[in-house]
Amino acid sequence: MPVPFIDLRRFEPDFMDRWMQKARHVTENTMFVGGPVVSDFEKRLAAVTGARAAVGCANGTDALQLALRVAGVGPGDRVLLPDATFWATFEAVVNVGAIPVTVDIDMTDLQMDFDLFRQAVAEYRPKAALLVHLYGWCTARLDDFRQFCTERRLPLIEDGAQCFGVVWRGRPIYADAWMATTSFYPAKVLGSCGDAGAVFCSTQELADAIRLHGNHGRVTHYLHGVIGWNSRMAGMDAAYLDLCLDYIDARLASRIEAARWYREQFAGVAGLPVVGPPDGCDDNGYLVALIANPEKRPAIEAHLKQRGIGFGNVYPSAMSEQPGARGWHGGHVGGDNARVLGRSILNPPLFSYITREEQQEVVATFREAAGK
Ligand SMILES: Cc1ncc(COP(=O)(O)O)c(C=O)c1O
Repeated sequence: MPVPFIDLRRFEPDFMDRWMQKARHVTENTMFVGGPVVSDFEKRLAAVTGARAAVGCANGTDALQLALRVAGVGPGDRVLLPDATFWATFEAVVNVGAIPVTVDIDMTDLQMDFDLFRQAVAEYRPKAALLVHLYGWCTARLDDFRQFCTERRLPLIEDGAQCFGVVWRGRPIYADAWMATTSFYPAKVLGSCGDAGAVFCSTQELADAIRLHGNHGRVTHYLHGVIGWNSRMAGMDAAYLDLCLDYIDARLASRIEAARWYREQFAGVAGLPVVGPPDGCDDNGYLVALIANPEKRPAIEAHLKQRGIGFGNVYPSAMSEQPGARGWHGGHVGGDNARVLGRSILNPPLFSYITREEQQEVVATFREAAGK
């Protein structure tokens, strides 16, 4: 039985009819950009995540760029970020004119290494830092990162594109961030019907500044207070996401249980160690991370392909080794864990409502592949 890496069509039985009604409502009322459908969704998003305020925008990359700009980052400033992340994290720093400095990861949780981060702060004197909560969980040192940055008045922006629904020490992860961002790209845990994103803010002032920058610096319709750009959320996205929130508990529960079961099963598969969330962190079931021997990974992948079993390599290269980083990369602190991770990472299929039968097929095929 083939199993895709991701299947976004597993809608709940009444979802499609409800979506058609909502889409009709947005269209009939021409609520295409901004408006009440967006502001209602923003309020609900803040309530669900525990953030003081949430501001919708065009995508997760813009969310990072808006947060960096509002944090005061500009041309020539240095910004720290983990060497293992999606390219948008690196790109956002360059797009606001700043210089990205990468920090290696800790192999026990696959997140930015806190001790190396402290070293990087001393060495590079950054204007801000981006902490990415990769794979649907977070660093074991989250409290240390937050406390250290608060004490030094170093703006810490949390790239939460992959962590919707993650709980850190009993609280939703976005709730205690100074500023955090997310992506609603369709493949995310809370995914839209197009590109969209949001910034979670700890104060209303931050939220107002994000909104200002994401709407042409508008003070009134034709009075522009700052150089911003256009990063407004579309009404269709807000309506779709609002509907998805009605189902998010069931979607999360399904992913979390699937991830838990995989981790239990893969613990017994020789040659494919599984790394998961640290103590104190409840993951959202976004991804499961298996660490293959880089020399054996191509043969494992060939077997999976031949048997129709999907897999991911999220992500195959570190930021510091991307061709596009040349000329922009301002330095690196630590070793090459992120690069080794890129050559080792294997992610099994995982999405809401994956069946246990599909998961059994996946585990059996990975087991065969690892034994080759
Ligand atoms: C960690 C991380 N940061 C940023 C982004 C960018 O989000 P978007 O694709 O919505 O621009 C993503 C999305 O894939 C991501 O995974």
